[in-house]
Amino acid sequence: HPPAVTLRVSPCRAMRAVGILSWLLLLLMLLLPVAQVTGARPCIPKDFGHGSVVCVCNATYCDTLDPLVLPAPGSYVKYESSKAGKRLERSEGKFQRSLPSPGIEYNLVRVPMACSDFSVRPYSYDDVPNDYELKHFRLADEDVKMKIPLLRRALAMSKRPLLLFGSPWTAPAWMKSNGDVRGKGTLKGKAGDKYHKTWANYFIKFLDEYAKHNVTFWAVTAQNEPLAGLLTPPQGPTIAFTAAQQRDFISQDLGPALARSPHGTRLLMLDDQRIHLPHWAKVVLGNATAARYVAGLAVHWYLDAIVPPGCLETTHKLFPDHFLLYTEACTGFFMFRFAVSLGCWERGDHYSYSILTVMNHFVSGWTDWNLVLDLEGGPNWVKNFVDSPVIVDGDKDVFYKQPMFYHLGHFSKFIPEGSRRVGLRSSRRCLLCQLEHVAVLRPDGALVLVVLNRFGRDVPFGIQDPAVGFIETVAPAHSIQTYLWRQQ
Ligand SMILES: *[C@@H]1O[C@H](CO)[C@@H](O)[C@H](O)[C@H]1NC(C)=O
Ligand SMILES: *[C@@H]1O[C@H](CO)[C@@H](O)[C@H](O)[C@H]1NC(C)=O
Ligand SMILES: *[C@@H]1O[C@H](CO)[C@@H](O)[C@H](O)[C@H]1NC(C)=O
Repeated sequence: HPPAVTLRVSPCRAMRAVGILSWLLLLLMLLLPVAQVTGARPCIPKDFGHGSVVCVCNATYCDTLDPLVLPAPGSYVKYESSKAGKRLERSEGKFQRSLPSPGIEYNLVRVPMACSDFSVRPYSYDDVPNDYELKHFRLADEDVKMKIPLLRRALAMSKRPLLLFGSPWTAPAWMKSNGDVRGKGTLKGKAGDKYHKTWANYFIKFLDEYAKHNVTFWAVTAQNEPLAGLLTPPQGPTIAFTAAQQRDFISQDLGPALARSPHGTRLLMLDDQRIHLPHWAKVVLGNATAARYVAGLAVHWYLDAIVPPGCLETTHKLFPDHFLLYTEACTGFFMFRFAVSLGCWERGDHYSYSILTVMNHFVSGWTDWNLVLDLEGGPNWVKNFVDSPVIVDGDKDVFYKQPMFYHLGHFSKFIPEGSRRVGLRSSRRCLLCQLEHVAVLRPDGALVLVVLNRFGRDVPFGIQDPAVGFIETVAPAHSIQTYLWRQQ
């Protein structure tokens, strides 16, 4: 087979020639003082059409390597050759303390209990009528095959502990006044009766079943949007409560059930728009029994544009021992044309503007709605499509991290749990170049300042920290910045 012979012989000759030359060069180099080594000479590649290149040398030129210098501790040196043309190419890198990840250190996770409208079908965990003992309570495939494996991977990856909280959208059809998991109904009967006791026990069953998979919940909300119906399509799954009904359900059923259970799971009330504050707080927390069972108030953002944030501060002042937590927000809702708007910067602005505003009004955390959605803004079985910071294109096997994702990261990555907001005085206000900002002290003593410029022009400004000094800087047009420094 002549081609085989050709292939074997000709490279060998070339290698021997190159070998002799490089030995000569190496000897020459060893004779040179180190100071005169001016850096390696690169390979002069030549492609003979056999898939890769040779390096061409002659009497005066050949590619060389610098003597090996080991890198500083914590760094490494890499040499690489490749079919694509690299020949002992040197590069340096640093060892990271932990695996890099594309996430931005979220540490609050909201988990719907059974279906929400962002499911592919309506369902509950016990669709056997009149099963007051919940003997037929079973997690769905969605939990066992999707949510739990994903949560366990997230828990394993996260550097910080993840706080999970569960929220129910709907009870089983047989507990609801409208006899359907779909649409709005109330719980049948009244607080303290078998429907309410069973519904409270359903929460505990949910916690029990997740605990069997080593997934434990920091909190549950008493009901997702008990006043929904106005904002969501009529088919959307929900149980309606008035403030008085929630107070009674908490004080007589859900509160005692959670307190008796071994899970130590906290209870959040409201889980609806801030337009209902401080009224709901007064009704529910005004009852000392209910107030004892409730740890905090969960708030959604959908009516924030028409409800000033002062109601948050009022609620905090009335009930300072109960924290305020934002538990749902998304953009693209009520948008008839663009549920998903890939790369829209203003939707990111909308997120950070909300976070800055509510943090400055005693809110201690902020939770997005959907972690990821598809290109349509679903799946959603009532076609209530919206936008999300991460959009998946399943056909192409790619996902897009939108401006909203990075806006969230400007907070979530740098403001760990246990940080405290600190006072910040703005010396000048200007109508069309207003910067939004919040400052916090991290548990490790570092200060964090987040600055948002929603306007189309650069805004020069200064930061003065009496403990450290002064800097002059600029918030570029349409930008968000996070500054971090230590005071000593
Ligand atoms: C040797 O190779 C170098 C680099 O390709 C080239 O610049 C130089 O002219 C060559 N010398 C001779 C004598 O061919
Ligand atoms: C839960 O954790 C325990 C203790 O670490 C372990 O023994 C058990 O196998 C885990 N269960 C599951 C379902 O992973
Ligand atoms: C709290 O509300 C319950 C009804 O759910 C009532 O029985 C109880 O007396 C109230 N407690 C207080 C302290 O207001």
